[in-house]
Amino acid sequence: MKNPLTLILFIMTVQACAGEVSSGPLNDYEEVHATTILDAPSIDENDVAPDKRDRVKRGEYMVELLGCGTCHTNGALEGDPDTDRHMAGSDIGIAYTSPLDNRYPGVVFPPNITSDIETGIGGWSDEQLSMAIREGRGQHGDKPGLVMPWPGYAKLSDDDTAAISDYLRSLDPIRHKVPKNVALGQRTNASFVYFGFYRNK
Ligand code: HEC
Repeated sequence: MKNPLTLILFIMTVQACAGEVSSGPLNDYEEVHATTILDAPSIDENDVAPDKRDRVKRGEYMVELLGCGTCHTNGALEGDPDTDRHMAGSDIGIAYTSPLDNRYPGVVFPPNITSDIETGIGGWSDEQLSMAIREGRGQHGDKPGLVMPWPGYAKLSDDDTAAISDYLRSLDPIRHKVPKNVALGQRTNASFVYFGFYRNK
């Protein structure tokens, strides 16, 4: 910049452009309401070994009570669940960073938790499932995920997580792979919602 006038013009141009791009961090978003009350899919008792029936029934009750389907069923986060693919993962992701800080948030997609071996939890052990539920850890014990509300499930008893695991494994396998998580700062066309806690700094 050779002289002050050029500098002032430059600043004015930058301001004008910034004004055009966006007038607020949530400008490009619409409000949605996940007002969904979902029954957990029921299991045909005859498909379950007699000694496991009570446990699977308890698992169904727990999954309904703890609202697992709201995140893990496609559409439920927008109040329009696809009950034909109940628990088979959500193509709508959940942002885990604040809309105020990042134009392109990090996004995770609640995975398929039906019994499909390849795309669901069919191959997971009781221990792996209880770690996912109570500690938010992935199949290999990797660090806790950011959105799965495991602190609310951390005090479940071993019997309860075993009941949930048996129930999930009794669900019909649905083959469905959710989209890949989106890294913070990466531009995406994926569909996602925001929720979380924000506090004043
Ligand atoms: C608020 C939304 C939400 C709710 C409610 C929720 N989950 Fe999750 N869950 C997630 C997300 C998101 C992930 C993936 C985390 C990641 O990728 O870091 C996940 C991961 C998992 C995993 C690991 C699966 C995998 O393939 O990695 C299991 C198992 C699981 N959840 C089971 C449950 C169960 C059982 C319940 C109810 C007791 C439940 N979740 C409730 C959002 C949720």
